[in-house]
Formats: sequence, structure tokens, C-alpha cells
Amino acid sequence: MLVSSITMLVNSVSAFSGDATYYYTGLGACGVTNKDTDFIVALSTAQYGSGSHCGGKVSVTYQGKTINVTVADKCLGCGADDIDLSPSAFSALASETLGRIPVTWNYA
Ligand SMILES: *[C@@H]1O[C@H](CO)[C@@H](O)[C@H](O)[C@H]1NC(C)=O
Repeated sequence: MLVSSITMLVNSVSAFSGDATYYYTGLGACGVTNKDTDFIVALSTAQYGSGSHCGGKVSVTYQGKTINVTVADKCLGCGADDIDLSPSAFSALASETLGRIPVTWNYA
């Protein structure tokens, strides 16, 4: 009982909920040039901060599917907990025609 309460608390602190969109990659704010086939993510200005997460991994889950992506860019149009994925990463979770999907994600 106590253990499961603690586990839920840890999960709720470390996971974020927001919308995922996708964008066409290139030279990112982290200083790396990426291709659309790379599994990368752009974070909101709030999450990106001064770029301390650059090169770090993020796990993104949508309808039971989870992918791992690398932080490469800043998303100026994103809400605080929204993320912007490369086209390949987005399409690993859902059809690109959806354009925007609700996801949960965390720093791995
Ligand atoms: C994501 O990374 C975690 C931790 O390294 C690993 O356990 C998991 O298998 C990876 N998932 C995918 C889909 O690559």
C-alpha cells in the first residue's frame, strides 16, 4: 500500500502531459544539424531552459506505445509541457495526418 503510493507520487512528479506535434528538422538550438529520420525532440522554452537537456533522452508515450528521442531543439510555439518531434519519431507513435496527439513524457 505504502510502496504503491510512493511509486505513484514519483511517477506523477517525473512525467509530463502535453501535446506532441512534428516539425521539419535542421540546425537545432542545441547546435546539432538533424535529419527528419532522426528520433529527436524540441522542448518548450520553459523546459529547454538554458539547454541543459540537450543530448539527453526523453521517453514519449502515446496509447501504450513508447519511443525514446534525443533533445535537439527548442520549440518556440509549444506550450510548457508540449513537445515537437521529428517526422519519423511522430509517425512511430501515430499517423502524421493526426498532426497533434496527447502524450505523456519524461526525461529518461
Ligand atoms: C527506451 O530506453 C529505455 C531505457 O534505456 C529502454 O529500456 C527501452 O527499451 C527503450 N525503448 C525503446 C522503444 O527504444
